[in-house]
Amino acid sequence: MFATVLHELKSPQNVGSIVRTHVAMGGGPLVMVGQERPWQFRKSTQAFSRKLERQCDIVYLDEEAAFFEWCDELGFAPVAIEIRPQAAELGSIDWSERPALVFGNERTVLTDAFLARCDQVVRIPQFGAVGSLNVAIAHGMVAFDVRRGGGGALLATGRKYPERRLRSLAGDVGVESDAES
Ligand SMILES: C[S@@+](CC[C@H](N)C(=O)[O-])C[C@H]1O[C@@H](n2cnc3c(N)ncnc32)[C@H](O)[C@@H]1O
Repeated sequence: MFATVLHELKSPQNVGSIVRTHVAMGGGPLVMVGQERPWQFRKSTQAFSRKLERQCDIVYLDEEAAFFEWCDELGFAPVAIEIRPQAAELGSIDWSERPALVFGNERTVLTDAFLARCDQVVRIPQFGAVGSLNVAIAHGMVAFDVRRGGGGALLATGRKYPERRLRSLAGDVGVESDAES
């Protein structure tokens, strides 16, 4: 089980995309840290989330300290996903059983003080002349790595939904009419 933790994200598109990936990857709690008030799931978010937030256990925490207390109470290991030279590289991680994956927002990065309180800092290697990845893309890459079991593990096979899709391609069942893009 993993948790996705969003640190003061602002973009409805990013939040919506992350919710969708979080559900697709079978995530547990979705935690929002530092929001002034609960996130408003308006059309601009739901165009990307497909209203999947309704399936999420969403936790709102207004302070960073409350996040670390929450991790202690529920047995999650805080893991910052951030670009730092000394961070461990995605692809080499043996994930703990309950990582709480923290992502920074679109404008700033997670602070050194915050990173120092996390069990681990993980960065996604980049190979071209790009400063950083879009946060929703970064979330998708890390969430998938957690699901597949991290460094060296075999690729995880999906469960219910992908299997149904595959069988539908073989003509066993009808395709669900969700008109996904
Ligand atoms: C778009 S970035 C922040 C951009 C920042 N304003 C800058 O100047 O680069 C937002 C978040 O995405 C995540 N992120 C983006 N690229 C990443 C990478 N290569 N490795 C780890 N995290 C990354 C981090 O959580 C980061 O805080």
